[in-house]
Amino acid sequence: MDKRTLLLQMREKSLEGGGQDRIQSQHKKGKLTARERLHFLLDDGSFQEIGAFVQHRSKDFGMEQQLIPGDGVVTGYGTINGRLVYVFSQDFTVFGGSLSETHAEKICKVMDLAMKNGAPVIGLNDSGGARIQEGVVSLGGYADIFYKNTIASGVVPQLSMIMGPCAGGAVYSPAITDFILMVEHTSYMFVTGPNVVKTVTHEEVSSEDLGGASVHSSKSGVAHFTAANEVESIKQLRTLLSYIPQNCEEQAPAIPYEAADEDRPTLSNIVPENANQPYDIREVIEEVADEGSFFEVHKNYAENIVVGFARLAGKSIGIVANQPSFLAGVLDINASKKAARFVRFCDAFNVPLLVFEDVPGFLPGTDQEWNGIITNGAKLLYAFCEATVPRITVITRKAYGGAYDVMNSKHIGADINFAWPTAEIAVMGAKGAAEIIFKKEIDAAPDKEAALKAKEAEYANIFANPYRAAERGFIDEVILPEETRYKLIKAFKMLENKVDKLPRKKHGNIPL
Ligand code: HXC
Repeated sequence: MDKRTLLLQMREKSLEGGGQDRIQSQHKKGKLTARERLHFLLDDGSFQEIGAFVQHRSKDFGMEQQLIPGDGVVTGYGTINGRLVYVFSQDFTVFGGSLSETHAEKICKVMDLAMKNGAPVIGLNDSGGARIQEGVVSLGGYADIFYKNTIASGVVPQLSMIMGPCAGGAVYSPAITDFILMVEHTSYMFVTGPNVVKTVTHEEVSSEDLGGASVHSSKSGVAHFTAANEVESIKQLRTLLSYIPQNCEEQAPAIPYEAADEDRPTLSNIVPENANQPYDIREVIEEVADEGSFFEVHKNYAENIVVGFARLAGKSIGIVANQPSFLAGVLDINASKKAARFVRFCDAFNVPLLVFEDVPGFLPGTDQEWNGIITNGAKLLYAFCEATVPRITVITRKAYGGAYDVMNSKHIGADINFAWPTAEIAVMGAKGAAEIIFKKEIDAAPDKEAALKAKEAEYANIFANPYRAAERGFIDEVILPEETRYKLIKAFKMLENKVDKLPRKKHGNIPL
């Protein structure tokens, strides 16, 4: 056989993966193959493969007879909307996508390239875990990947798509990356599977109930996005990438924007007269952001806080907003963790932050205290404090207690703080405050209820407004709701070249 034909044959063989039968069985499960996924993910014709002929070096259990070029993972680079990305896509048709020493080396190679060339890494995970026939070298391979994930964290965005099993220690690579996307009913993640769970705890649970997309997007918060099928999931990833820069030195891509009428009259009708009545903060976000640009992250987890990307005058911003329509927008452990992680991503990758604040405080109770609302609430506080990207807050209504400080207040480094006339900035709500500071007067009054009402009104009159804070300069400007979009565009433009540095240190010690 001539040398040219040999190469072409080898190329063809490497495209076959584990063979037609296994490809069919993959399709029957409602899953695409590793290469089909890359086809949907990357711009047409942009994929360039690296390491197609790599083979494992294992000699145990007859493995030397089973050599499949590529060794269960397709790696390389390509573009998404014209922007460079590095990819690895595990091939379940080859030894169940299991991770061998060489499989790990291929993944590490693209991660090294990504770091040197400043472009995101996208991992498509579909694997039975450590290659059982290889023993410790496979475990070593995982550790090499975890190490690289950690070193690359904050240098280039790392995105994990879970398209099948991801179990055992294998889950820790996605866990270290910035975002996890899961596919409903065909993907799952757990440290120990249903069989081990049954043996150890006698609990019977299905893979789906233990670690499916629904569980991880709503209960554990492990997954940031879920989709009904793989193609939808890939579309989500492509959209997500459009909001974020290639690396920590760059800005996210902006889309051209021509100044228009930025008045948004409907914003004036969203916050109800009654301060205890809920409203959906998403309505405010949708009106303020460029039309249709809001892209929510972690939608079904800790719904009392809303986080996500949007564009304002064509530029990417990260939004963190209390959600009055869920648990009155209270801050609790999960909301604090969710928002803190998002704030840190935005700060690491130069995405300016916009905060909408309507928060009655931290959630009281033994459940929260025993599970560490102190440490967890501090995560959000810390994340805002150390963020050096442009930071703006709009207080739409309540800004009570410690939550006022935490939610990107002027005191912790926000650049511009706006408040709507409906803002109430105080240590607590008027009723609670009156009950404490006027306790004696109220107890002594012949009509206690009337006395409480009067004192409540007195407290509200003094503090249930934004003007005390504005007198101090804690609020830079009290604005009409309809002016919000215009004011934000101007303020973010003004902050465009912001330079703010933290003191030299090895690294901070965020309360984990
Ligand atoms: C080698 C594996 C494999 C593995 C699957 N295969 N997992 N080969 N090492 N870990 C092979 C199977 O032998 C089979 O080969 C093919 O992949 C498809 O597997 P099936 O079992 O037929 O598929 P399915 O029924 O869909 O089940 C998928 C599965 C199951 C649930 C993932 O294969 C499974 O439980 N695998 C073992 C999972 C596991 O215990 N892994 C180690 C976890 S510990 P053929 O030739 O028949 O097609 C771990 C530690 C990481 O990962 C440590 C990091 C610190």
